[in-house]
Amino acid sequence: MIRFDDKVAVVTGAGAGLGRAYALLLAERGAKVVVNDLGGSTRGDGSSTNAADTVVEEIKKKGGIAAADYNSVVDGDKIIKTALENFGKVDIVINNAGILRDKTFSRISDSDWDLVHNVHVRGAFKVTQAAWENFRKQKYGRVVFTASNAGLLGNFGQANYSAAKMALVGLCNTLAIEGAKYNIHSNVIVPTAASRLTENILPPDFFEQLKPELIAPVVTWLCHEDCEENGSIIESAAGWASKQIIVRGKGSVLRRSLADPVSIEDVREKWDKVVNVEKIDYLGSIQEETANLTKYFSEMDGSLDEADEENDFSDKY
Ligand code: NAI
Repeated sequence: MIRFDDKVAVVTGAGAGLGRAYALLLAERGAKVVVNDLGGSTRGDGSSTNAADTVVEEIKKKGGIAAADYNSVVDGDKIIKTALENFGKVDIVINNAGILRDKTFSRISDSDWDLVHNVHVRGAFKVTQAAWENFRKQKYGRVVFTASNAGLLGNFGQANYSAAKMALVGLCNTLAIEGAKYNIHSNVIVPTAASRLTENILPPDFFEQLKPELIAPVVTWLCHEDCEENGSIIESAAGWASKQIIVRGKGSVLRRSLADPVSIEDVREKWDKVVNVEKIDYLGSIQEETANLTKYFSEMDGSLDEADEENDFSDKY
């Protein structure tokens, strides 16, 4: 059985929805859990101790160990302090707290933009950074960031939220690289779940099937010491999960030789090839990306006639 005995987990926004499900499952499997929740509205107004307290009580009733924390994630150091004061260390951070301020782009105010970015991006930065030195010293840490298909694919009326969610993908990508040698793994979860954030958005029949408890085992596995995953985007909903990847088309060389310039007409002429994604490259790292680019130099050099097809992943993905 997969256990989390002797592990301390911080789950932000754990007073409801997905975070609550993560906190309950981690505690059931032996982790000591900091249940963080500001207890405000879906728009980020107000605060209350009820949300965190209710989940802590639920955990304790089932024989688990938990402590409540009522700070906003923007005060990440205070949340990690709650973990250190109550349990002496921190091993796992699940950045889950979130709010919405949906508006079409032209109607987004500065405060709609800033608050959404503060909670999702600055919050995840502050909580994770406050835990990071502890992770490095103990050579162990697991971090989960929460993105959204609204960020990966876009969604009408969610420009502020989409931008914030995509920022977390970039943050995770770099932390996965910086943390690797310290056994700190960072991954992104892209959930779709029934919660107060989605109750008026998702169709009722669909909503019924999207229990947060069906995603919790995926996120919890990402936090386990046996899980080697690092730097991945994992999408999950309704008892299904899959890795999402970023790919690049084969593209087109835009000039005949390395000595030639590129004209706008060259771009127009080659445009169909530039945007053709029938064949793709999967670029797992920035090194692969750079190495892949250099082969196009050979093409411009005249030493290669056609783009090298060896790295074609079209059939694989
Ligand atoms: P939820 O509203 O049920 O839970 C979010 C919790 O975060 C709430 O309890 C709220 O009080 C807390 N919170 C908000 N601001 C906070 C702050 N500044 N500090 C501490 N806690 C704060 O929503 P849900 O659906 O469980 O969302 C969890 C995460 O998953 C969010 O980041 C959301 O954007 C993301 N997400 C959810 C999807 C879904 O289908 N439910 C889809 C994609 C992403």
